[in-house]
Amino acid sequence: MASHGCLFVAMIMVFAMLATASNGQLMDPHFYDKVCPPALPAIRKVVEEAVAVEPRMGASLLRLHFHDCFVNGCDGSILLDDTPFFTGEKNAAPNANSVRGFDVIDRIKDAVNAACKGNVVSCADVVAVAARDSIVALGGPSYDVQLGRRDARAASQAAANNSIPAPTFDLDRLVSNFGSHGLTPQDLVVLSGAHTLGFSRCTNFRDRIYNETATLDASLAAQLRGRCPRADGDGDDNLAPLDPTPARFDGGYYSSLLHSRGVLHSDHQLLAGSTDGLVRFYGANNKAFRRDFAVAMVRMGSLSPLTGSSGEIRANCRKVNY
Ligand code: HEM
Ligand SMILES: *[C@@H]1O[C@H](CO)[C@@H](O)[C@H](O)[C@H]1NC(C)=O
Ligand SMILES: *[C@@H]1O[C@H](CO)[C@@H](O)[C@H](O)[C@H]1NC(C)=O
Repeated sequence: MASHGCLFVAMIMVFAMLATASNGQLMDPHFYDKVCPPALPAIRKVVEEAVAVEPRMGASLLRLHFHDCFVNGCDGSILLDDTPFFTGEKNAAPNANSVRGFDVIDRIKDAVNAACKGNVVSCADVVAVAARDSIVALGGPSYDVQLGRRDARAASQAAANNSIPAPTFDLDRLVSNFGSHGLTPQDLVVLSGAHTLGFSRCTNFRDRIYNETATLDASLAAQLRGRCPRADGDGDDNLAPLDPTPARFDGGYYSSLLHSRGVLHSDHQLLAGSTDGLVRFYGANNKAFRRDFAVAMVRMGSLSPLTGSSGEIRANCRKVNY
């Protein structure tokens, strides 16, 4: 029995190595340096223009990358449109009527293909770089984006329903969701700091402002109730900023949490147990937050990429190549 067990473990290891060999080429920040030097500047230009027109777009592009990476890896699967014969991720519960920025991704892809005189930059890489450039455009830390992702030829609405954490989750489910993606509780706290940017719709925090008032600052509760009627379906899409400065990447998110002003149930949950100390740490150390956020973004951006000859470079980010 024991030797069978060993053989079994050895076989698993060989399979794991084979899987890595066929699909685990390392990504590289210089991946496009030779094949298309103007690629990254072309992406940055479109992002900067879009964020200048509407600062929230920077937040939306960052979230797009998160929702891409948490569903079968950072493979551009979220960009595929539904068709009568294909159901993708756009209308999954966490994304429907919520994730935005697809038009900007199309504009970037067109600009990059023009700059490169051909289709050499994957949509998944476009999303990863656009997220970084959005963070920088709104005052956040810069970092080198690892590149060389390829685009999926499939998408999964079921996986999108099941793999992206919900704002109703308690801390233990948030931690285990991040764990299922190979990310730590520290990554959870640091990456939740992305909520220093952008907005939420009432439907995602109505419970908190009407039913969790014991842990919510009274003046913020009153303000949010003014914006979000109690009845389900009434003003569901009205917006509230996730921190006081939704167009500035700053420490406002953690100070909000520490003053019981976290907007989402999941935000407030970061104070509910083992992660409490990290929230206090990042609340007091903005430099550490910026540094660790950049590191965690690279980790999130490295979730199960398709590399080498897996997948494809999509010509149109909304549909697979023929
Ligand atoms: C920890 C678990 C997380 C939960 C439960 C969560 C949940 C949410 C929800 C419910 C919204 C509002 C969406 C809407 O109402 O349409 C939101 C917005 C946002 N989330 Fe998260 N999120 C989480 C983690 C993250 C991470 C890891 C990032 C990026 C690294 C991120 C970036 C954003 C951004 C930037 C927005 C604002 C988007 C906009 O204004 O368009 N979130 N999140
Ligand atoms: C995903 O969730 C949505 C909304 O709850 C539901 O309509 C859809 O059927 C789900 N899709 C799958 C494949 O489970
Ligand atoms: C508040 O909680 C009650 C009881 O659990 C529930 O019936 C009600 O729908 C909740 N209200 C809101 C606005 O979520």
